[in-house]
Amino acid sequence: MTETLVSQPGKDEAGAAPKRLFIKTYGCQMNVYDSERMADVLRPLGYAATDTAADADFVILNTCHIREKAAEKIYSELGKLRELKDARARNSNTESGTSKNSMIIAVAGCVAQAEGEEIIRRQPAVDLVVGPQAYHQLPELLTRTARARGERIGADFAPNEKFDALRVPRGGEGVTAFLTVQEGCDKFCSFCVVPYTRGAEWSRPVADVLAEARELAARGVREVTLLGQNVNAYNGEGADGTPSTLARLAFALAEVSGLDRIRYTTSHPNDFTDELIAAHRDLPQMMPWLHLPVQAGSDRILRLMNRKHGRTKYVELIDRIREARPDMAMSGDFIVGFPGETDADFEQTMDLVRRVTYASAFSFMYSPRPGTPAATMAGQVPGALKKARLQALQTLLTEQQIAFNASRAGMVMPVLFERPGRHASRAQAVGRSPWLQSVHVDHADHLIGQIVLVEILTGQQNSLTGRLVEQKAA
Ligand code: SAH
Ligand code: SF4
Ligand code: F3S
Repeated sequence: MTETLVSQPGKDEAGAAPKRLFIKTYGCQMNVYDSERMADVLRPLGYAATDTAADADFVILNTCHIREKAAEKIYSELGKLRELKDARARNSNTESGTSKNSMIIAVAGCVAQAEGEEIIRRQPAVDLVVGPQAYHQLPELLTRTARARGERIGADFAPNEKFDALRVPRGGEGVTAFLTVQEGCDKFCSFCVVPYTRGAEWSRPVADVLAEARELAARGVREVTLLGQNVNAYNGEGADGTPSTLARLAFALAEVSGLDRIRYTTSHPNDFTDELIAAHRDLPQMMPWLHLPVQAGSDRILRLMNRKHGRTKYVELIDRIREARPDMAMSGDFIVGFPGETDADFEQTMDLVRRVTYASAFSFMYSPRPGTPAATMAGQVPGALKKARLQALQTLLTEQQIAFNASRAGMVMPVLFERPGRHASRAQAVGRSPWLQSVHVDHADHLIGQIVLVEILTGQQNSLTGRLVEQKAA
């Protein structure tokens, strides 16, 4: 049946409605980007997005393996999908006896890469397992599914092929966009699955990134966020055949007409160069908000984590960044309850947070991951203690976030308006501040897609409220 998916683009077997695609995305922004690209590559086959799995012909779960909970969620979701698929099969059998209404279920992303066939063994309703480097093969895999349901193909790493074959026009709308420029990780932090699920560090050539950025800008995108597991390790091939740096890529992107704002995530402290710091000083397009995870504040724990940097190096790096760009707001990731973490180690994390001050942050309880060195380390921390530490850390981080947002009150700042707000009667619009805060402004819904000066009235925990001061910022 799925042979017809390729031969009759845009139609089902009756030659009528488009096929419906539902993608559910878990995990990091790289998965968000990949989900968009999967939709792009399936669009020529007649697949249009739908909002619910219940009426989808093709369901993709784009999964995350980073913590145990994230991975386990997939299996419970697959259980629900199986019921939908069974119900659909029953209906179609009573209707026509064909598989016209059958549902295809695919598991993509990092769980697919890490657990492969295990997924099909645990949940036979899954038709396809496709690793992060094989999304360009989706059309072909769909076709083969008809013949060999449950085949696992394309989980080997060849990122260059992925991006070459994904050169189909990007769909979507909106004035901000993600743009993956780097994949994979060679750092092997002792707690982390990413080097195993995403493979070695690899960067896209500058010309490819620029072509995609121009396409986005032509579509009305004003702000790009460059993505990579280690985005500041970017070393894609430049025009002269030699490796570029992230700083040089940023300068090239700044030339793209219409692209007014550049962000990037996630950076590693060890790959943060003076050149990149200077780019923050010299390029107005570089936004003053930086996600620079440290994970822990104790040198002993950082060593056990194999982070290859200490506390002092991290703190001094941020001092230098803030010297170049005094309005820089910091964001980070933290893990509490890493094996062997004592109260004193944890206090070092709290102390580092007080010293740096964060505008926003993510914090997690350590989750042992199969195959990673930390999973078998001595001194695993009991769950209750992890919870208590997480609560203390999150209380502090929330206080800092509230204080940071409140400190914007009274400022006049350029806001990129993204979408209408909830209060249509007041013509409310929601935009983004330079510091990645949501800004709610009344009588502004005609300004979507523009960067406009706004006076901030109040700062709440998760957003700002402001009013227009004039029509258009430079
Ligand atoms: N490349 C990025 C982020 C990778 S994953 C970096 O180097 O920081 C995102 C975050 O998940 C990590 O920063 C870390 O804080 C968290 N994380 C990764 N593995 C984890 C684990 N086993 N348990 C809990 N949190 C984890
Ligand atoms: Fe994971 Fe460390 Fe690589 Fe980040 S740098 S992806 S935390 S191994
Ligand atoms: Fe998760 Fe994979 Fe991203 S494990 S955090 S989806 S790289």
